[in-house]
Amino acid sequence: MRLDTLFSLVSWLVPHFWNQELRTIQVSQTEVLKVTDHEKLLLKRQGVNFLDITSFPALFKSEEGLEVPEYLYPTELVNGHKVTEIVQKCDTNAMYDDLAFFTSFYTRYYKSLSGFESATWLSEKLRNVTILLGDRVAQFHVDHHDWKQFSIIVQIKGTETPENVIVFGSHQDSMNLLFPSTLPAPGADDNGSGTVTNIEALRIYAQYLNETQDWPRNTVEFHFYSAEEGGLLGSLDIFTHYAQENRTVVAMLQQDMTGYVQNSKREHVGVITDFTSSILTDFIKRVIDKYLDIPFIETKCGYACSDHSSASKNGYPAALVIESEFSKTNKYIHTTMDTLDRLNFEHMAEHVKLIIGTTVELGNWRFQKKR
Ligand code: BES
Ligand code: ZN
Repeated sequence: MRLDTLFSLVSWLVPHFWNQELRTIQVSQTEVLKVTDHEKLLLKRQGVNFLDITSFPALFKSEEGLEVPEYLYPTELVNGHKVTEIVQKCDTNAMYDDLAFFTSFYTRYYKSLSGFESATWLSEKLRNVTILLGDRVAQFHVDHHDWKQFSIIVQIKGTETPENVIVFGSHQDSMNLLFPSTLPAPGADDNGSGTVTNIEALRIYAQYLNETQDWPRNTVEFHFYSAEEGGLLGSLDIFTHYAQENRTVVAMLQQDMTGYVQNSKREHVGVITDFTSSILTDFIKRVIDKYLDIPFIETKCGYACSDHSSASKNGYPAALVIESEFSKTNKYIHTTMDTLDRLNFEHMAEHVKLIIGTTVELGNWRFQKKR
């Protein structure tokens, strides 16, 4: 018997005989399956996309019911001087160093010890970049019941309307699709790139706030989700909890894969138009037009491909921006070959500008629902 066949057999037997706990996954608008963790992995390898809703049975029932409110977003972007001042400080060498460290963990698989250690490193890194804000910044670990890797929330509370929250999200975990528990998963692009994009935007925004004391009237949060690769588990925990507490998220911008450029002659970012809020996405397109040096192309994932879907599912307006149109994204993800030598840090810096443009324009915006 070949070694890999033996390995497959053992990894099939173990969950069936020692750990019969079944997960509930939603594979389409109408179909829900009960599967073991191993069957979940097999489905993922076959390219079946799903949400793991084991802990959120109500979410499935409310599939049609939950309406996402439509807020008015700025049509004129008037804060160019601030955005230019902040993005000047973007440092691609710092981003490279962060990503080199982040990808040096053997894997950031959410159930692994190294996935817990990478979260611990990330948390310390975030504390270092925001320490100058003192008690005007808060940092929370969100512990999840079934796995070790925690999610992290960094919060800058709004001065006038702190109940209105703007969220910048990215997932911190990585996964080797072949054997998640045993093979390495550097996850440089998926989603080390989105993680360092959020870190760098937070670093230069914190520096700006400290220098100018130009605090936003609305709350700004940076989220680093655990277990996205397990079926959006970390972000579902967070947004379900936010919804239960009746919190108001007025905009959520997820960045998942920001570093790969297939054709540098046609460099662009990809704006996702399915499973997202179209009114928020229209605003994001205006930010790109005004503040990025490259254009956008509208594109689709075709399924609930990242954590923005957890926000949408819980009734919050969400957008997703990725490195390019979907068909031209990095093909090495979920393998040992998702490494940083394949990435373009100037491109990642464009994604940093997107966060800065969005936070400066929305930070002081007076949110009103569209009638
Ligand atoms: N980063 C991917 C999503 C993605 C893929 C974005 C290609 C842009 C281009 C994400 O980490 C992922 O792997 N998502 C899963 C689905 C999720 C619900 C488990 C996927 O695409 O299979
Ligand atoms: Zn992935």
